[in-house]
Amino acid sequence: MTASVYTVENRKGGVAKTTTAVTLAYGLSERLLENDGGRVLLVDLDPQGDTARALGLKPEGRCLSYVLTGEGSLRDNIMPADRSADGGPSRPNLFVLPASDNLRSAKETLLSQLTVNMVMAQIRGKGNDNGVVPMVEILNDRLGPAKQVFDYIILDCPPTLDMLQEAVHNFADAAIVPVKADFHSTSAVGRHTRNILDDQAGGITISIKAVVPTFVDKRLRLTRSMLDQLQRTYGNLVTEPVPNTVRVAEAPASGGLTVIEYAPDSPATTAYQHLVDFVYEG
Ligand SMILES: Nc1ncnc2c1ncn2[C@@H]1O[C@H](COP(=O)(O)OP(=O)(O)OP(=O)(O)O)[C@@H](O)[C@H]1O
Ligand SMILES: [Mg+2]
Repeated sequence: MTASVYTVENRKGGVAKTTTAVTLAYGLSERLLENDGGRVLLVDLDPQGDTARALGLKPEGRCLSYVLTGEGSLRDNIMPADRSADGGPSRPNLFVLPASDNLRSAKETLLSQLTVNMVMAQIRGKGNDNGVVPMVEILNDRLGPAKQVFDYIILDCPPTLDMLQEAVHNFADAAIVPVKADFHSTSAVGRHTRNILDDQAGGITISIKAVVPTFVDKRLRLTRSMLDQLQRTYGNLVTEPVPNTVRVAEAPASGGLTVIEYAPDSPATTAYQHLVDFVYEG
């Protein structure tokens, strides 16, 4: 088995990356359960650590950083998202590799490991002047084994991946890009939709699997025009717009639930289920 690996990314903060990653991962785990079985891993690449929190999980010292630096194993740092034992939601085939503030300092450790790797590569006569290849190797060596165990790996990205960007893009198959319909204020009238798309989706150097409009209020003319522009630019990669609704914001705060679990009949759930099907059906 080799997992399908997707980043959820956008250079802007607060556009619903974590919400989309968590909801997609949960939805995919449901699809797998309904069909032939299989497992989903949700990886938090953001030191803010929102991913585990959104699912109501306490990482208790687990962090992606230990896996990346080689200080800890995948097995010791991956945790089940199932909370049925304590009366919480049942998620038997969803797992999380959480992040914590430690991920910030781990990047420094990685940088020194990279320097060693580069010197070693030069000694061995393998010229390497930009450090990209070693970082790719580190990620493949340390996170790669998860591809043999999970059917899907979803990577929740921070607004900037900086030194991890090339390696993460090499590791993943494609990106899922939530795009926030956030320019409905009159001050934004003068801005071209194109610029807004460049701000949000620019810099993504892997193929795009899906574009997910988020915070959508179709009553607003500018939002409708943004949706038109998204369709023109990304065509059938654009999934059903996720409405701006308090149900989405309430879900993680209501006992750490996804919106699918918290409000199964809400229009936001319908939109996210569309994304789940889009990804599941390949
Ligand atoms: N469709 C929506 N309607 C209303 N609120 C939403 C919607 N989607 C997300 N939110 C809320 O907006 C906030 C930001 O969402 P989220 O944390 O998913 O964004 P993010 O892109 O991961 O942010 P960051 O860049 O900080 O990682 C959260 O409080 C979330 O609950
Ligand atoms: Mg986030």
